[in-house]
This record gives sequence, C-alpha cells and structure tokens, in this order.
Amino acid sequence: MKLIIAANWKMHKTAAETVSFCNSLKLREKEFSGVEVLLCPPYTALSAAAAALKGSAIKLGAQNMSWETEGAYTGEIAAPMLKEFGVTHVILGHSERRHIFGEADNVIRKKLEQALRFGLIPILCVGETGEQRSGGDTAAVLESQLRAALEGLDRESIAELIIAYEPVWAIGTGQAASPTDAADAASLVRSAAEKLLGGAMEGALRVQYGGSVNAGNIDGFVTLPPVNGALVGGASLAVDTFADLIKAAGEAAEC
Ligand code: PGA
Repeated sequence: MKLIIAANWKMHKTAAETVSFCNSLKLREKEFSGVEVLLCPPYTALSAAAAALKGSAIKLGAQNMSWETEGAYTGEIAAPMLKEFGVTHVILGHSERRHIFGEADNVIRKKLEQALRFGLIPILCVGETGEQRSGGDTAAVLESQLRAALEGLDRESIAELIIAYEPVWAIGTGQAASPTDAADAASLVRSAAEKLLGGAMEGALRVQYGGSVNAGNIDGFVTLPPVNGALVGGASLAVDTFADLIKAAGEAAEC
C-alpha cells in the first residue's frame, strides 16, 4: 500500500511563506518515490499553495471544515470552498480540535459525513490521552472514537479513508510512541474500522501514525505493515526537514 505522509501545519505560515515552502519542496519531489505527499496549510494559504503546487503530484488538504454547506456560521469554512482550491483531503477530529475547541464525537461524525458527501478524503484522527493510556484504556478509547465516527456509515459512500492514530501525549512533545505500540494501535484501528464498516477495506483504508514523527524516527513506523504513513506537525514546518522525512519514509518502505 502506498505510504501517505501529510504535513499538518496547524496555525503556522502565511501565504507568502507557503509559496516559498512549496517551491522548495517541489525541487526535491523526485526524491519522494513511493510516497504520496499531502500539505495541510491554514485556510488562508490554500489558494497560494494550490497555485504553487501546480504541475506537482503533492496534494492539498485542509485542517478542519464545517459540517454545513453554507449559511449563518460565522468563521466557518465549507466543503465547496475547499474544493474550489483543489483540496482533496481534510483532517477531522484532530486532538487539538477535540481538546482545545471542544469538538465532540457527534460533531466529528457530521463533518465526516459532509466530507464524504463532497468527495473529500477524510483524515480522521483518533488517540488516547496520557491519563487514558496509563489507565489501560487505550483500546476502549480508540474503539469508542471510531464507533462514533463510523458506525452505520454506508461503506459504498467511502471511496477512500485515512485514519490517523495520534496518541495525544505524543503530539508536539518530542516523545513519540514506540513503533511497536504504534503498529499495535494501527492494527486495532484497522480491524475496528473494518468491523464497523462491514468488511475489509484493503487499499481504501490507510492508517497513519502521528505524534513527534521526524526524519530520524519515521523508518521505525513505516517498516511495520499496519502503519501506512504519518501525520506530521512540527517536523513538517521546515522544508528540508520535511523533505528528508519523506525521503527516509520512502527508502525505509522499499527495504
Ligand atoms: P507533531 O504533531 O508532529 O508536532 O507531534 C502531529 C500532529 O498534531 O498531527
């Protein structure tokens, strides 16, 4: 299965900084064999990124989205607005959305349905907090987040789905999960998702690991088959660091 490495820039980079990043990343694109690359800049940089990425295979994603199509929702961004810029993917239920902005499971579910309705590929984020992990609740938390997001969805409406396993305690802390823990969680995520959706998803479902991934540790994750890529925050902000990470992922997966 082709790896997918996605950059989640969070609230970083202006449009001008984005253009300069995209131009430099394109110069290194030939090094990215066997890896699909996705950039998720802030909304305000999507248009500039789309223009700068023209002619490249690097794809564009958004970090969030409204569950509504239009209307009186101050500050929200709708799926058709994203599609206008060639956005193909959308991150949903990131732990910062869940924990800082109070996004509940039912909201994430509505967003997921909206993404599918508009043909956007969802990157659904799930993951346990440090406290849940030490309480031995990781599996139960993952299963419950997945159930809320996926149960009863029409399998036929899902051409492609990405689930990012992102343990909250590993995000931005420099303390990544061990590759074997990430792989165990990724297997659990895949089998729980397939059960909820009523059958094997094979190439239609990829499971990423996210949380303090960098060019030095990516190989440990992507060489374990349950992990099909990574969602990268901090290490995606400097273009050479990110390009090194993508290259390392491709080389590790080839071995
Ligand atoms: P990090 O963030 O790579 O900085 O840990 C990952 C994420 O939040 O998706």
